[in-house]
Amino acid sequence: MRIQHPVAAILSRAAIAQDEVTGDGSCSALAVIGEIMRLAEPLINECIHPRKISAGLDIAREWTLDYIDKSAITLDIKIEKKDLLLNIIKGVIATKIEPFLVEQMSEAIYNSIYCIRPRTETAKDPSSLIPLDLFMIEIMPINIGIKPEVNFIKGMVMDHGCRHPDMPHELFNCYIFCCNVNLEYERTEVNSSFLYSNAKQREQLSRSERLFIDNKVRKIIELKNKVCTKKNQKNFVVLNQKGIDPSSLELLAKEGIIALRRVKRRNMERITLCCGGSPVNSVEDLDVSVLGFARKCWEVNYEDQKYTFVEVDGDPRSCCITIQAPFKYQLERCKDAIRDGLRACRNALIDKKLLPGAGAFEIAASEHLRSRLKKENNPKTITGIALFADALLTIPRSLAKNSGLSPNEALTAAQLAYRQAIENDNGLDNKYFGINLDSIEPINPIDEGIWDSVTVKKQLVSLSTTLSSLLLIIDEIIRAGKIVKNDKLQQ
Ligand SMILES: Nc1ncnc2c1ncn2[C@@H]1O[C@H](COP(=O)(O)OP(=O)(O)OP(=O)(O)O)[C@@H](O)[C@H]1O
Ligand SMILES: [Mg+2]
Repeated sequence: MRIQHPVAAILSRAAIAQDEVTGDGSCSALAVIGEIMRLAEPLINECIHPRKISAGLDIAREWTLDYIDKSAITLDIKIEKKDLLLNIIKGVIATKIEPFLVEQMSEAIYNSIYCIRPRTETAKDPSSLIPLDLFMIEIMPINIGIKPEVNFIKGMVMDHGCRHPDMPHELFNCYIFCCNVNLEYERTEVNSSFLYSNAKQREQLSRSERLFIDNKVRKIIELKNKVCTKKNQKNFVVLNQKGIDPSSLELLAKEGIIALRRVKRRNMERITLCCGGSPVNSVEDLDVSVLGFARKCWEVNYEDQKYTFVEVDGDPRSCCITIQAPFKYQLERCKDAIRDGLRACRNALIDKKLLPGAGAFEIAASEHLRSRLKKENNPKTITGIALFADALLTIPRSLAKNSGLSPNEALTAAQLAYRQAIENDNGLDNKYFGINLDSIEPINPIDEGIWDSVTVKKQLVSLSTTLSSLLLIIDEIIRAGKIVKNDKLQQ
């Protein structure tokens, strides 16, 4: 059994919470918590009580959240602003994947967000619109190839194929019939508690069940023959959430129909959003209104795994991003990066506000806390606030360190540039300075298009201050316990 240290458990939960709530900023949260703990240690050794530091951290949290609200830059962030959204996505995914993938992945993420955008023009009640349902984007990892590749599919991809050798592997102009109907012989004569007295009755029972299922298949075929004629050159695809047995597949294959069984429930919802139509639970009274339409439907065999692609024309409301990579860890990393990119884009579209990235926000917030501290009279909280102002600077320092620059030099240059800008009253666009990953000279993140999300930063500030307060106090409780124990030993 692996026993996890309680502090490690709290920290890993912090990272998970940050990732689950906002989809980004987990490394920053851990870095700030770690820095607060590192800076607090010498203070505690100098007999400053942890509760004093924790009280200061609480005030620092309020001030920084206030500062975020005041300093967040309101932009006209709309789904149509492709360049701005691409920059936001790139800022999040570029730190996670190989550089050559950034361009194609951000393009795929933008296209999928555009695909699921709420259509205000068609909504009966615009207030009922779900802002962006990321669940309507399927992410399909495919373990193949020699180099990772990310593609946007205007349609859906399913990780299974049709189970009959005679079924077509590619069809154009297809009607899509989605159903949740059992087309499988269930051996009722064996499984049910129905009693029969002789072999003839048993035979009769199994024959009538077979007939019952065949009739259901025939009804689907009738619909196919009604809508697909030689003249209109249309084809037919059946996507069934339940099973289809070999005899039913045989009947469908004879008619040139592609039929997929056991389609996942979530994909049924997505497919109807992609292709139109509506899923049916019974094959009685079928008509053309239940059918969706796809430009092409085809099956691909990668190694031993089959995939079915359904691609549509027009303006679908659900879509898929495929990731192809030779190694499982690459697939996982790309999947995480796509999830983070999608959420960053959604956060920006909902917040309509952004903060300057590249550590510029942390530098500005730290300066703000220090200047506000000058007017603070409460000696109990000063230490904690100053400590948080210093801890925030770990973000620009880490950015410089990770790019091979001297952390202190790069940070000082950015701080000086920021102070200079404030003195000269340069205006909002020229006020912020962050870390340039290529040189010691600071950059203006707004000019470079490096943005951070307001939601992510707010969560980061709340989580890091709350958790480090908790850890400091737990530490105190543990220490108190130890002193009592030692005292007892001495007696
Ligand atoms: N091109 C860039 N130049 C400078 N800084 C950048 C650049 N791109 C991103 N950053 C900064 O990097 C930081 C984010 O780094 P990263 O994404 O690795 O960590 P995180 O968001 O804290 O954690 P995670 O993404 O793993 O949940 C942000 O402060 C962001 O402003
Ligand atoms: Mg990130």
